[in-house]
Amino acid sequence: MSEAEPGKVRRKMAVGEGRSMMHWLNLRPNVKRLRRVTMSEVKKHNTREDCWSVYRGKVYDMTPFFEYHPGGPKYILMAAGKDGTKLFDKYHKWVNIDFIMEKCFVGILVNEDGSVPAPGEESESIEEEESEQTQDE
Ligand code: HEM
Repeated sequence: MSEAEPGKVRRKMAVGEGRSMMHWLNLRPNVKRLRRVTMSEVKKHNTREDCWSVYRGKVYDMTPFFEYHPGGPKYILMAAGKDGTKLFDKYHKWVNIDFIMEKCFVGILVNEDGSVPAPGEESESIEEEESEQTQDE
């Protein structure tokens, strides 16, 4: 370690074992506090200013991501208040949602009665409004 510049006071302190910034960043979300979210709650957040979407059974607050999306904001808006998994997979199945959206994770999607969906029991994911097949809900 190099010495601090003369005249400069260094205010960093020695942190405890396993308490570096690297450790902090590596901490996973606290599972005990994991929030359970129903689809009817997701549906309420369906605007550009307040946008939640479901991807692979997880609910994300997409609002801060609009300007960052490489495909542009209109695509994020298409899945506002909805399950966008199929749309997502259509364009880029390979993109790692968990990693990119970690900061915006709200909670896991549960059934309306609060129970956790069984494996494979997916919520209805919207598809692109192609041909006559339009799905508003
Ligand atoms: C969690 C949600 C999403 C994340 C994290 C995400 C992330 C990304 C990333 C990283 C890229 C660049 C991919 C690459 O260069 O290979 C991209 C591009 C794109 N995304 Fe998304 N995306 C999301 C949702 C969506 C949705 C719902 C749609 C469609 C409705 C969509 C449509 C597109 C399109 C059209 C492009 C441009 C593809 C191209 O022409 O290269 N994305 N997105």
